[in-house]
Amino acid sequence: MTYHGDEAFPALSDEQRARLQACGSAQEVESGALLSGAGEAAYDLILVDSGEAGVVRAATARAAGAVVARFGTGQFVGELSLLTGQARLGMRVFVTGASGWIGSALVPELIGAGHEVTGLARSDASAAALTGAGARVHRGDLDDPGGLRGAAGASDGVIHLAFHAGMARSGDFQGAVGADRRAAGALGEALTGSDRPLVIASATAVLAPGRVGTEQDAPGLDPADAGSPRARLATEEAALSFASLGVRSSVVRLATTVHGDGDHGFLAALAGIARDKGVSGFTGDGSSRWPAVHRLDAAHLFRLALEKAPAGSRLHAVADEGVPIRAIAEVIGRHLDVPVVSVPAGQASGHFGFLAGFLAADNPASSTLTRALLGWQPAHPGLIEDLDKGHYFHSRPAQSAEPEGHRGGTS
Ligand SMILES: NC(=O)c1ccc[n+]([C@@H]2O[C@H](COP(=O)([O-])OP(=O)(O)OC[C@H]3O[C@@H](n4cnc5c(N)ncnc54)[C@H](OP(=O)(O)O)[C@@H]3O)[C@@H](O)[C@H]2O)c1
Repeated sequence: MTYHGDEAFPALSDEQRARLQACGSAQEVESGALLSGAGEAAYDLILVDSGEAGVVRAATARAAGAVVARFGTGQFVGELSLLTGQARLGMRVFVTGASGWIGSALVPELIGAGHEVTGLARSDASAAALTGAGARVHRGDLDDPGGLRGAAGASDGVIHLAFHAGMARSGDFQGAVGADRRAAGALGEALTGSDRPLVIASATAVLAPGRVGTEQDAPGLDPADAGSPRARLATEEAALSFASLGVRSSVVRLATTVHGDGDHGFLAALAGIARDKGVSGFTGDGSSRWPAVHRLDAAHLFRLALEKAPAGSRLHAVADEGVPIRAIAEVIGRHLDVPVVSVPAGQASGHFGFLAGFLAADNPASSTLTRALLGWQPAHPGLIEDLDKGHYFHSRPAQSAEPEGHRGGTS
C-alpha cells in the first residue's frame, strides 16, 4: 500500500463533498473499535479521524467498499471509489502476464483505480508495452521462482496471469500447468504471513462438463486429467493452500472465451478456421455450451478480487453462462457468408486442431456467487453481441492490429 500523505490533494468538487457528507453521517463508527480490527463486518465506509498511513492500510484490507480517510482538521484524503486519482491510496501490484490479452486490459484498470503496477516482462517488446501503459517493469521469466519471489515480496499484492500458452498449444499442457503451479507456489511463499492478496488465473474448463458449474465446485484432480485443462485444479489448490498461511489468496476461473476487439484467442481462431475452410463448423449437434466474458469485465473482476476477495475464494469471470457453439457458428457463418455445418467427430481434430476438445466440452458456468460476493456486474457486450459487431471478421495486419503483447489466450 502506498500512501502519499504529504502531498496536497485537490479540493473536492461539490458533488464529491455532498456524497462524502451523506456517507459520513450515515456510517459513523468508533474509529478505535474499527481500526483495532475487532469483528469481520463488511464496512461500506471507513472514516479515519486521525492517524497514520498504516492505520488506513490496515482498515483498507478489511473494507468491502469505499474507504474514506480524514486526517487532521477535517481534511478528507479521499474515498477510493469516488476520488480515484486524488486519493492516491493504492497498492503496489505485481502482475505476471501483464503484457497479455487480459493483462493489457488489467494494467489500465489497476492504474485507473490508483494502484501502481509492476509487470513481469521476459522481452524488450513486453517491457516496452508495459512502460507505454504506465507500468513499471520487472524483467524476468515465469520459470525463475527466485525472481518471482523477489518481485512479489516487494509488492502489496500479486495477480498471476502468465501462462505458457505456446507450450500448451503445442500439446504439452502438463508442462504448462506444472510451470504455472510452481510460479503460484513461489508467489505464495513470498507473501506468506503478510495478509496480502494473491490472485491467480484459472479456467472454467476445470469444471465437470454437462452441468452448470459454480464457484463451490472444486472437483478432485483425477490423475487421468493430467494433460487436460482440468490439470489446472492443481494450481488452484496450490494457490488456495496459502489462505491458511496468511495470504489472501483467491482464484479467478476465466470463461472459455475472453472476448473483445483485438482478440486472437479461441473465438478468433474459430473465425479463422471458418474463413480458411469455407464452412463455419461446430461439433455434434452444436449444443455444447461455452461460457464467455468480455476482456474488460474480466479485468475489472481481477481488480475487485485483488482489493477485497476473502482468502480462499474461488471466483468465476463469467458473463454469459453458456452459449451453444452452434449459435456461435451461425454468427460466424453469417458474417463470412459461408455454410454452417456439423463436423463429424472423426474429423473434428483435423478440422479444428487444438480447439476440437474445447468445442466438444459442454462447459456452462455460473457467476452468481462471484457477483454477490464482490458486487461485480459485467457491463460490456456479451459473446453474440460482440461477435455481431464485426471486428472478428475484419482482416488485419498480423502485428499492428494486435493489442500490445497479446499472443492469444488459452484455457
Ligand atoms: N484468453 C482467454 O480466453 C482465457 C480463457 C481461459 C483462461 N485464460 C487464462 O488467463 C490467463 C491470461 O490469459 P491471456 O489470454 O491474457 O494470455 P496471453 O494473452 O497468452 O498472455 C500470456 C502472458 O503470459 C506471459 N508469459 C508467457 N510465458 C511467459 C514466461 N515464460 N515468462 C514470463 N511471462 C510469460 C506473456 O508474456 P509475453 O508478452 O512476453 O508473451 C503474456 O503476458 C492465462 O492463465 C490463461 O490460460 C485465458
